[in-house]
Amino acid sequence: MNPSAPAGPESVTISFRPDGKKIRATRGATVLEAASQAGITLQSSCGGRGACGKCRIRLISPPSAPSDAELRHFDEAELEQGWRLACQVQVETEAVVEIPPSSRMMREKISLQGLGREVEVEPGLSKIFLRLPPPSLSDQRADLARLLDSLGGDVPPPSNLSLLQDLPDRMRRQDFNVTVVLSDGEIVEAESGDTAAQLYGMAFDIGTTTIVGYLTRLLDGAEVAVSAAINPQVQFGDDVVSRISFVSTDEEGLTRLQEKVVGAVNEIIQEACREGGIDATRIYELTVVGNTCMTHLFLGIDPTSLATMPYVPVNAAPRTVEARELGIRINPRGRVHVLPNIAGFVGADAVGVIIASGLEENRGLRVAVDIGTNGEVIVAKDDRLLACSTAAGPAFEGARISQGMRAASGAIDQVTLIESGSGSMTEPRLQIHTIDDAPARGICGSGLVDAVAVLRKIGVITSTGQMLPAKSAPPSASPFLERLESKDGKLRFVLAGPEQSAGGEPICLTSRDVRELQLAKGAICAGMLILLEEISAKPEEVEELLLAGAFGSYIRRESALAIGMLPAIPPEKIRPVGNAAGLGAKLALVSGKMRRLAKEVAGRVEYVELSERAEFHQRFADAMILEPVSGARQADR
Ligand code: FES
Repeated sequence: MNPSAPAGPESVTISFRPDGKKIRATRGATVLEAASQAGITLQSSCGGRGACGKCRIRLISPPSAPSDAELRHFDEAELEQGWRLACQVQVETEAVVEIPPSSRMMREKISLQGLGREVEVEPGLSKIFLRLPPPSLSDQRADLARLLDSLGGDVPPPSNLSLLQDLPDRMRRQDFNVTVVLSDGEIVEAESGDTAAQLYGMAFDIGTTTIVGYLTRLLDGAEVAVSAAINPQVQFGDDVVSRISFVSTDEEGLTRLQEKVVGAVNEIIQEACREGGIDATRIYELTVVGNTCMTHLFLGIDPTSLATMPYVPVNAAPRTVEARELGIRINPRGRVHVLPNIAGFVGADAVGVIIASGLEENRGLRVAVDIGTNGEVIVAKDDRLLACSTAAGPAFEGARISQGMRAASGAIDQVTLIESGSGSMTEPRLQIHTIDDAPARGICGSGLVDAVAVLRKIGVITSTGQMLPAKSAPPSASPFLERLESKDGKLRFVLAGPEQSAGGEPICLTSRDVRELQLAKGAICAGMLILLEEISAKPEEVEELLLAGAFGSYIRRESALAIGMLPAIPPEKIRPVGNAAGLGAKLALVSGKMRRLAKEVAGRVEYVELSERAEFHQRFADAMILEPVSGARQADR
């Protein structure tokens, strides 16, 4: 049992199945909160407001009267079986709860690909091992003078008093064999013995949903371990707007969100160190990227100003902070460097994408799209760099899609149309692929794009996104009509039948899901077209389009082009580049030059606020059409 809350009348025991975890939670806590306390992260897109219906659990005991929200989300039979929403059930007495796989947040698969940029490893940090002559009656120099003399006299005395306080012990513990850690020529740490080979740093990409940390050996830039976790702030909503609203409505909101993210970063550090077999005190630096809201929350800065016009951040400059000031558990004298933000909704993660892909180098017309919980677009041409945030929403991460999920085991990530049979007896058939070939649990972003492209092709969906009933569907849809069904008076298309799914329930695409995709892809495409117009360029002139983010790595270019998510750019010019933001953080970790470049680039980017562009709404409406963006359509614009 995890004694999280003290035993007593104010606490109750709650058991989670099939995990076998048992904790004491504060009486009156919701099952969602108790699960988080037990280390079980549930899907909770709406932030616990009973709206999204994603936090489904089975309450084994005690019985509980359903709330209005639960009455909306479950039918009578389900309620009878104990199905409830974790955010609605408050535990007042001992409870037993079963958590189905479909309600859990699963870890995302991380894709790491180099972008071909050559970066020399030259971190600002270095270590020097010194064998100092012990003091004697004929050599009565002070400890610090002895140390500085051995360093050649160019290094100034450390400004840190606590370092001086530790110095006598560190020097004498191993007979005056000592290793000093220098940061940009200043002594930041002194260690007993020879630790010169143990010089590590970690680069972090703090996403709205996922946090990834790269443990890196700073001597040669080698990656020692990669660890990731769900950002535990998801408990308070799946997008930045919900997090900001939590900060502005709850007195403790900012503190709680900062504690959550710092806690997750510490866990990632611990896990990576365990995997790499190193001691966390040998990590001396962290670099951090994230969207503007995430970097604010990480630093404990109120992000409320981001949510109201004119959406300005409190801080855009790069920040260096003592690790212990933030509660980050690395070497107590370690430092955390947060890369600069560009604007309220284009953050340090976009700066990471730029420096990782060399967009700032004058290499023709290049575009990068980072598709995460938001969709940022960056266009580079000649010496200009333009960026916008497209408010694409988290549809590509599975949120707001009825059976959506992130790209984790069991997610339908590919839907293709194939011909089965032979000779003239062939018939089109749907082929579904799931991550890890596991039974289907839901549909992720790339599967969603594929599914809509296929349904468009067979004619089940019109170009405006309407799902057609069997009687109105064209002949090309005939082989698939049995997959069309109606639930609660609404049409849905079955992608995977009960026999293919993990929970025995079919995995379906609804008209509402198609609408969500149209909104998300329309925003991205319109944003890209507006930036291109701004520099008087046409989509066909784009020399390279980089798709960053996990989703960008899995998406099929042909499907994205078929539904008009991207302007008409030849598929061979579209390149998935994995987590480019995280790679940018790594480059800034191993190279002082790249860190300086990040600062310079952030100051150069021209931010384009789409909402103040009169033409944006028309572009957006056009871009919602589920058709390839043809040359003619582009020319009309
Ligand atoms: S319905 Fe419970 S978190 Fe959304």
